Amino acid sequence: MKILMVAPEMVPFSKVGGLADVVGALPIALSKMGHDVKVICPRYSFMKLDSKWSPMEKVFQIYLGREVQFGRLWQRTLDDGKTEVYALENDTHFDIPTVYTHDYALHEQEGYRFAFLSRAAIDFCFFLDWIPDIIHCHDWTTGLVSVHLSTRESETALAKTASVFTIHNLQFQGVFSSDLLAFSGLPMNLFKADGLESYGRVNSMKGAIYHSQKVTTVSENYAREIQTPEFGFGLQATLKYKASDLIGVVNGIDIDMWDPQTDKKIPQAYSSTQMAGKAIAKAEFQAKMGLEVDPEIPLFTVISRLFHQKGLDVLMHAVPKILDNMEVQFAVIGTGEPELERGFADLNGKYPGRFSAFIGYHDELAHLLYAGGDFIVIPSRFEPCGLSQMYGMRYGNLPIARATGGLVDTIDQYNESTAEGTGFLFDHLNVDAIYYTIGWACSTYYDRKDHLVQLQKNAMARDFSWDKSGIRYEAIYHWAYEAKNGYVYEQPKPAAPVSTKAALKKVRG
Ligand code: ADP
Ligand code: GLC
Repeated sequence: MKILMVAPEMVPFSKVGGLADVVGALPIALSKMGHDVKVICPRYSFMKLDSKWSPMEKVFQIYLGREVQFGRLWQRTLDDGKTEVYALENDTHFDIPTVYTHDYALHEQEGYRFAFLSRAAIDFCFFLDWIPDIIHCHDWTTGLVSVHLSTRESETALAKTASVFTIHNLQFQGVFSSDLLAFSGLPMNLFKADGLESYGRVNSMKGAIYHSQKVTTVSENYAREIQTPEFGFGLQATLKYKASDLIGVVNGIDIDMWDPQTDKKIPQAYSSTQMAGKAIAKAEFQAKMGLEVDPEIPLFTVISRLFHQKGLDVLMHAVPKILDNMEVQFAVIGTGEPELERGFADLNGKYPGRFSAFIGYHDELAHLLYAGGDFIVIPSRFEPCGLSQMYGMRYGNLPIARATGGLVDTIDQYNESTAEGTGFLFDHLNVDAIYYTIGWACSTYYDRKDHLVQLQKNAMARDFSWDKSGIRYEAIYHWAYEAKNGYVYEQPKPAAPVSTKAALKKVRG
């Protein structure tokens, strides 16, 4: 199939969270399966483009509602030799220091920025004269693409193109003034409760849910959860209405980039049968973080966006109780909301050698954290999929996580009588639950070393590659195509070979 992915962020070019990892890996998995895959994403001014990128000569025109705007496309082929990425440059929209502006004063501008990207994804197909069978979009920033497809493009060359929309995080829905429709060139009659309207504003996520042929989210458990008021962020009724087209597909991870046997960002390679490298990584990580270098003490780690979603405010309150009562170390890497940054920074220095927080984004340190840590703590309020538990397990850093969303689908609870499992799950988000679950992990570390070793082996043996999920997306693309067109997708067949005699007969009669 011809597949176009549209995304606001993509590893290794721009990254805020896991969406970027998914968009960095899924297209490659699909190309490997034989599909023709292209990705379009913004070229933010902070992105350094190396010599593998080249600018396209022709000026790219984006046909918005009131005006035509211009862009420049940079193109490169990924290292798989197949997947093509296009980065869209435009100073008005993408000359910004970060992917998302969490600034209220700039909020409406963010709407225009991503409405621009969404329309550009459509015009891109005409620009290249390449008509995809599927356009696959990710989160609210690309939500208007499917709305364009089902309205403005219903009688153009894109009329047969089906859309698949993936929800990575329902909390952010892209809610803006209704002027966004006129800006985008979308009909105002879409501004209704069973369309794009929500409390008098345009809701990009809601529009995408209505207008896409298939809606996916990043784990089966989260697909169920978002149909309830607790996790639906006000869209539970819309999602229930769309339930037969809503599918959960758990994310994979890039197993080449995240592999303790080949990772160049850790001091020494290791595997589940040769764990010496893990101890070396632990010592290096402890030293880098300013913790006491001690191979015997259990090291609990956190790497996360510091957002309310992640439940780290509760963890922060549990940390003093844990450090006062248990012989453990804690290392936190993260950036995000100022109160959380401040809270963790304030704990620095209170437990010298035993607690350390690095406030910032640091990819190399992330690899060292996964390799050096014994446990990775993920107390999320909600977690659509979560990738850090999978990276953790792959490096033998066992997750201690709240039983929610994709964490349930990817972590197997430790069974103390059989040593089965890959981590420690708890149900309720409160200081006691965190404290006692960390206590449970701590006693496993000190008192049941054989179980700890077994859990690490179990975790490191788990297959989190994209292979399985890639096959599921392929099936979903077929369903979406059929839903749009009323007939199944058929691969164009090569012309049947004919003999020269038969060919001549056909021509001469
Ligand atoms: P989310 O997408 O909600 O942030 P995920 O678990 O899906 O959560 O993905 C988070 C990704 O971001 C992981 O790859 C994690 O290692 C990475 N990450 C989070 N914070 C940082 C940081 N401060 N520095 C480096 N990587 C980080
Ligand atoms: C979102 C979710 C996270 C998920 C990621 C990739 O940021 O918060 O749970 O893993 O997207 O799908």
